[in-house]
Amino acid sequence: MWDYSEKVMDHYRNPRNVGKIDNADAIGEAGSLACGDSLKIYLKIQNGIVTDAKFQTFGCGSAVASSSILTEMIIGKTVEEVKKITNQDIADQLGGLPPEKMHCSVMGYEALEDALQNFDNMIDLDDLREEKVVEKIVCTCFGVTENMIWDAIKHNGLKTVEEITNYTKAGGACGKCKGLIQDIIDTYYKKEEAENNLPQLSPAQRILKINNVIETQISPELRKDGGDITLVDIDGDKVLVKLRGKCSGCKNSHLTLKSFVEMTLRETVDKNILVIEVS
Ligand code: FES
Repeated sequence: MWDYSEKVMDHYRNPRNVGKIDNADAIGEAGSLACGDSLKIYLKIQNGIVTDAKFQTFGCGSAVASSSILTEMIIGKTVEEVKKITNQDIADQLGGLPPEKMHCSVMGYEALEDALQNFDNMIDLDDLREEKVVEKIVCTCFGVTENMIWDAIKHNGLKTVEEITNYTKAGGACGKCKGLIQDIIDTYYKKEEAENNLPQLSPAQRILKINNVIETQISPELRKDGGDITLVDIDGDKVLVKLRGKCSGCKNSHLTLKSFVEMTLRETVDKNILVIEVS
């Protein structure tokens, strides 16, 4: 029997904001019924403020409690404030969760992140399920992807396969994926070490390096698919760019900017770089 806080028990017995919102402005999902836990969150957003949030979940008591408290945490907050919420915040608001149940707070965080990403991309909600980019599944028993494991390490400083299992469930059944999980942990910390060892550049050297990486590494890759990119301006950590060709107006342009352009510049120039698309 897990040792649950009073708050977890309260939200489990009397969950708040259960249900769905018709005409929601954003919908996010995490987990899947096949894995034993799933969560769908609905948001109503007006003038940049979350005015209503509801959830439907299939899962254990801590999944219900995490979803319930999450809706309370976000109603009335601005989208920018909501974006800063982490799974640890959800667990903290509940007065803590047993380590083996931290994956429930991660599921809440992932559903919220999914909803906000969909809202940002302003993709037609009906089209959304077909448009989703196929991610690499690491743990087939629980449908956990590489990105989910990467995020769990990043946001919670996880260092062992056992911790990953507690936070995401990956590795908790047949165990065949444990080797892959260890590889992801190793890659994450190697990459972090490389980023921390990037040389300090003067402002002028930094501008030259960003220009050079865009011209020699990023642009050639985008051109292979009929797209391209132009550097517009650099303002501190912000790198303003314009996507061209097939990349401009593409529904996945947000993903290209974040997971390729921004990632490449962070790995080669500065880990704090933020890439922003301008029209
Ligand atoms: S594949 Fe991950 S536990 Fe079975």
